[in-house]
This record gives sequence, structure tokens and C-alpha cells, in this order.
Amino acid sequence: MEKGKFYITTPIYYPSDKLHIGHTYCTVATDAIARYKRMCGYDVMFLTGTDEHGQKIEEKAEAAGLSPKEFVDKIVEGPGGITDLWKLMNISNDRFIRTTDDYHVKAVQRIFKKMYDKGDIYKGAYKGMYCTPCESFWTESQLKDGKCPDCGREVHYAEEEAYFFRLSKYAKPVQELLESGTFLEPASRVNEMINNFIKPGLEDLCVSRTSFSWGIPVDFDPGHVVYVWVDALFNYCTALGFMNDKYDDYDKYWPADVHIVGKEIVRFHSIIWPAMLMSMEMPLPKKVYGHGWLVIDGGKMSKSKGNVVDPYKLADMFGVDALRFFLLRTFPFGSDGNFSNELLISTINTDLANDLGNLVSRTTAMVEKYFGGTLPEDREAAELDSELIELAKVSREKYEQQMDKLQLHLALEEVFKLIQRANKYIDETAPWQLAKDESKKARLASVLYNLLECLRISLIMLRPFIPESCGKAFAQIGADEKSVSWDSSCVFGTLPANVSVRKGETLFPRLDMEKALADLEKLNAPAKPQFDPIEPDVSIEDFSKCDMRVCKVLSCEAVKKSKKLLKFMLDDGTGTPRQILSGIHEFYEPEQLVGKTVVAILNLPNRKMMGQDSCGMLISAVHEHDGKEELHLLMLDDNIPAGFRLC
Ligand code: MSP
Repeated sequence: MEKGKFYITTPIYYPSDKLHIGHTYCTVATDAIARYKRMCGYDVMFLTGTDEHGQKIEEKAEAAGLSPKEFVDKIVEGPGGITDLWKLMNISNDRFIRTTDDYHVKAVQRIFKKMYDKGDIYKGAYKGMYCTPCESFWTESQLKDGKCPDCGREVHYAEEEAYFFRLSKYAKPVQELLESGTFLEPASRVNEMINNFIKPGLEDLCVSRTSFSWGIPVDFDPGHVVYVWVDALFNYCTALGFMNDKYDDYDKYWPADVHIVGKEIVRFHSIIWPAMLMSMEMPLPKKVYGHGWLVIDGGKMSKSKGNVVDPYKLADMFGVDALRFFLLRTFPFGSDGNFSNELLISTINTDLANDLGNLVSRTTAMVEKYFGGTLPEDREAAELDSELIELAKVSREKYEQQMDKLQLHLALEEVFKLIQRANKYIDETAPWQLAKDESKKARLASVLYNLLECLRISLIMLRPFIPESCGKAFAQIGADEKSVSWDSSCVFGTLPANVSVRKGETLFPRLDMEKALADLEKLNAPAKPQFDPIEPDVSIEDFSKCDMRVCKVLSCEAVKKSKKLLKFMLDDGTGTPRQILSGIHEFYEPEQLVGKTVVAILNLPNRKMMGQDSCGMLISAVHEHDGKEELHLLMLDDNIPAGFRLC
């Protein structure tokens, strides 16, 4: 029976790097909730996607020599990209939005204009400290030890003409929203938001940028692009068709039942987002749930620390379901969880191989051994059974309560209490003894039937977490589609009395801890430098069209507002200085390069980068090693004069 709609979202991901296990955690958790709700009979809309604009992406694209769109296309839809990862992890999203999708771009422009026309967006000038990676302006008092309070990185002074959203106007209703009911969970996050952000005074929010161009243009004021968070947050509505014709589900699914988000973006979702919705006079989401982070040795995973864990490698080694299960069983959803390989392996062994896997294999093996695979219909109940049967009913109820509170780890705890009790029931009833006595066959059949029923009910509850393995296990215990429905999970005795089992493959093989750890270490060892294949031959005539010259660096300076670009003035031997921009600031400070003898290709078409001309390209030796780029600018003997040609 359909219970109504349920709209659930994950944050939309930045395609600036490959995703790691922390990102996977958030999406897998949302997927388990969406699957659970579908199973309960809700008409679920599960949305995920990618948040593709902003300065960080523009800079990364520039450093990779690609346009921003080419750059994000590769990370979103290319091999091993975000959509591939979600396929691999068996994510059941109903929709995927990219903020570069045309319908979203147009809708955001309309939304921005509407808030402007209403007077909630106005033009002003921004002066303040700016964190480039977070794309956030901060006031001095918000900085932590002079650094970005979100990511802890350096900030720099920035000033620009900008549009502002009257966030201050909505401080009171937002505070009331936070304090009333269960809009923001876990409850601990409410105080954090009120004390850290609302009480110190909500300032109006800068919602446009002019310092870079990779964003949604403010269509009534060229040169301004919409602040990436305004663009990103409205994805939750545009993906349903709000202010666009691409979809027609807005009336049906909005407001969202829950936005699942990581703790560092709770501020955007619980303060800025409701304030903008209030401005737009739109209904507010029912809940924002801020989950914790997966950390390593207490610290955040990050590419720069070199401690990111690759979900592809783990899924390949342990299986997708084992990885999904580990993430949601081990860590309380609202708190941080310390990831370790030992914990991963021991969770797989204890819960999946020993408790669940053993119960499936022992039960089906006994039905095969003692009854040729099909239970007879004669039964003999005993006192002992009622406790197990009662627990099965209670587990199902408690599981439901925990799932509805998004306490995924506690819901799983209930399932494993039942599985452990069923394993104990095997020891208590000793089916191998019953099997020796012909007069106890009916009792033996009852015991095995009760075990199959406990398994069936447990597997129904586990299905949102480990869907593929549950499918296989259902087949092994002889459960058909009807007997695996959510409604049937509260009816003990659903399997037919003469049920037939089918022994199958071991669902979760036990892992040898030492060997698995060693294998993981090997897997994570820095890959040997990969040798790029030699390019196809070119003719000598073609090669000699490329005009490579010796140049002297006359001056070199960082390009303002770019983290990567250096601007070179070069003596190329012609007598007129030549300007070349190169994205190598990560590898060199400008003063290291002044006076050096370098090589440049001079006859490439001129390119504009960050609004400046680049007339040629410097030659470097570049190599990607274990996800990190190494670069050495090609430098020659200083005795070689400028203008000499390389051939
Ligand atoms: N683009 C924004 C979200 C915009 S939503 C309108 C963003 N993207 S993100 O790719 O940086 O992060 C996506 C989600 O992954 C966030 O919820 C973030 O908290 C989560 N995680 C990133 N690293 C994480 C861990 N180490 N652990 C758990 N979740 C983490 O933020």
C-alpha cells in the first residue's frame, strides 16, 4: 500500500577530485534510507548530483589545460568518475542533477532575479577575508587563528562589487525554525548553529562574484556570477522542475522530507537555505540531518594529507555490500567515526561472515542434510520457540523506530540481536541430536523452519543495506518475492510449511586478518610511476612546424586571484618581451624563476587566462604519480642565448 511521498537528497558533490570513502559514506547512508522507505511503501524520490561551478573548479581546469566543462565532464561522467562510483556502490538514486545542466542554470537565474525584484538581493561592495577552496567570505571574528573556520586553510583579503542576500532579515524566523521541532538533527547541531552563527549576528550574505567567470551568470548584470552555494542549494528544487520545464514533480515532492548532509555544510542547509526559501515564499524542507565525518586517526581525510581511502579499491577487495554494511553498521550516523582497515575487516568477519553468513549456511545445510532440501509439513512446537518468535517481532518494531529516526547503526543492532539469538537457538535445540531420532523429525522441522523465518525477517531488514547479498540469501532460504515484502516481515510463519532451500555460494567468506591487511597495504602502496604510452609518429615536417625557443625569464609574478597561475615576461630573442601564463605556482615561487633560461613554444594561438593574454607555452616535464602531479620546468644552461631554436 502506498504511504505517500518521500523526498530525500544527498549533497551534490564537487567534481574537483576523485571521491573518497567519506563521500561514499554519505551517499550509501542516504541510499539505505531511500531503499528502506521504498520498501515501506513510500513513493520515493532520491536525488543526488554534482555541484560544478566555482573558482576552485575553474583553477583546477586551468591547471589541467581544459575548459571547466571539459574538466568536470571527465570527473562526473568519465571512467571511474562520480556516476560510475554510484553505479558500483549500487546507489538507487531516481534522479541525478548537474548544476551545469541548462534547465538548472536558467532556473537559478530566474530565482536570483525574483529575490532581487523582491528587494531581498541588493547590490553593494564586499570587503573581507576570503577562503578560495571553500569559496566563502569570512569576517575577522569568524576566522579561527586567522584561518578559515571551515577548512583551516589560509584566507586572503578580497574586495569586490557584489550582490548581497538579506540574510539578517531572516535571522529571527530561522532561529525559531531551528528551535522548534526537529528541523535540524541531531539536536546537538542546533545549539552549534545558534551559538556560533545566529547569536553573534547574521550578516547579509554575499551572493555574487566578479573575480572569476565559472558560474551561473547574473543575467541582468554581466560580469557577476551567482555565488556557488545559491546555485547549489536550489538544485533540490530545480531537479523537480521548479522554475523550469525539464521536470514536473515539484508540486508532488517538494518540500523535501530530509536533506542528508555532512556536518561542515549544516550551516548552509539550516540557516542560509531556509532563509532563501522564506524569501522565495516556498515551503521549507521538513528536516536537515547533519551526519558526522569519517576520519583517520582523528583527522579529516584529504588529498593533501595523502590519507584518502579509495572506495573502488575497498569494494574490489571486500565486495560492495560488505563495504556498504561496514560504513553504516560501525559508525553512529550523527557522530564522527574513525576509519581503520582493522575495523573494516573485523566487522566483516564478526557480523557478516560469522553471524549472518553462518546462520544462512548452517540452516540451509541442515535442511538439505536432514530433509533433502524440502521441509515436511508436520510440526512440533516447544516452549523454547516462543522467545525467538517474540524477539523476531520486537526486532522488526525496534528496527522500524530506529530507521525512522535515521539511527541506522542502531537499526542494524536490532537485526544482529535477532541473528545472534537465532545462532544461539541452534546450539540450544541441537538439531544434529534431533536428527538422530526418527520420532523427533517434526520437532526438527519446526526448529529449522523457525530459523528460516528468523533469517527471512532479518534479511528483509538488511535489504536496504546489502541489497545484492539479500537477494542471493532469499533465494537460498526459499523466499519468493511475496515473502520478502516489508509487510510480511511482521508475520512470523510466512514461508510455506514445505519450503525448499537451495544451498548457494558463501555470502561473506571469512577473511584472514593478517593477509587482508597485507593485501590492503599492497593495494594502497604508491603505484609505480606509470609510463605514458609513446604518441603515434609525426612527420619531421610536422614536428618542425612547432617553434620552440630558448627564452630568458625577465620577470615573473603570481596572477591575482589565481592560486595556480604565474605570469612570465620573457626575452624570446625578438627584442619585444613576450607574456606567457603558466599554471605552475604550486611547484615554483616566482622569485625562483627570474633570470632562468627556459624553453617556450612560441607559435601556439594566443589564449586568455583569468582575463590576461598568454602568447605561447612554457615546456615542463609533467608526471602524474599516485594521483599527485609532479612538475619540473625545463631549464637550460644559462650560456645559451635567448631566441635559439630547438630542433
Ligand atoms: N558541493 C557541496 C554540497 C552542496 S549541497 C547543495 C559539498 N560537496 S563535497 O563534495 O565537498 O561534499 C559532499 C558531501 O560529502 C558533504 O556532505 C560532506 O560532508 C561529505 N563528506 C566529505 N568528506 C567526508 C568525510 N570524510 N566523511 C563523511 N562525509 C564527508 O560539500
